[in-house]
Amino acid sequence: MEGLPRLVCASANPDKVAEIALVLDGLVDLRPRPEGLADVVEDAPDLEGNARLKARAVCAAACAPAVSDDTGLEVDALDGEPGVLSARYAGDHATYADNVDHLLAELQRVGAHTPAERSARFRTVVMVVWPDGGELMVEGSVEGAIAVEPTGGGGFGYDPVFVPAGSGGRSFAEMGDEKHEISHRGRAFRALAEALAGRG
Ligand code: IMP
Repeated sequence: MEGLPRLVCASANPDKVAEIALVLDGLVDLRPRPEGLADVVEDAPDLEGNARLKARAVCAAACAPAVSDDTGLEVDALDGEPGVLSARYAGDHATYADNVDHLLAELQRVGAHTPAERSARFRTVVMVVWPDGGELMVEGSVEGAIAVEPTGGGGFGYDPVFVPAGSGGRSFAEMGDEKHEISHRGRAFRALAEALAGRG
């Protein structure tokens, strides 16, 4: 890990940390979020704002540069919803399955049935905050469509209903590690590694 930029990971979600660690392996010395740190209230109106809130809180608690990410699923037929509300689309304590069910019901309600009518993208904003207040922001996205029913047993969140463009109809939940090569988060964190390398 010597010589690699050291960043404290603001996320405590094991699904996400595993994906981030895989993408940044050999590029960044990723340290875990300090234990006992209270959850950050993510009440900003957009992904950028929430990413900043999380990175600033963890940077202050760890007294070290911190990296956070915030992701939203933007569905065109729903005017960009769930977007910044993706984690709690079906309510404050919604499970992944509740959110997926709610999404499918909403698309049914607005009469979006074909893949073209169900176009969507995942967008991830990644933010690094340094103790001196410096910031670096990058993002990554992947285009696709919302399936009419869940398929596949892998991944998390909306993976069973997100069919990325060019996947031959397979959802993210059917892709295994292949997901990271094309995913919003994979792209955003690779952009981060490049931006950090560019800073020397
Ligand atoms: P977060 O900002 O990364 O915590 O993402 C907010 C919500 O978006 C999560 O609770 C998931 O429901 C969903 N989400 C984020 N990333 C993914 C992904 O890679 N696949 C499926 N759902 C995701």
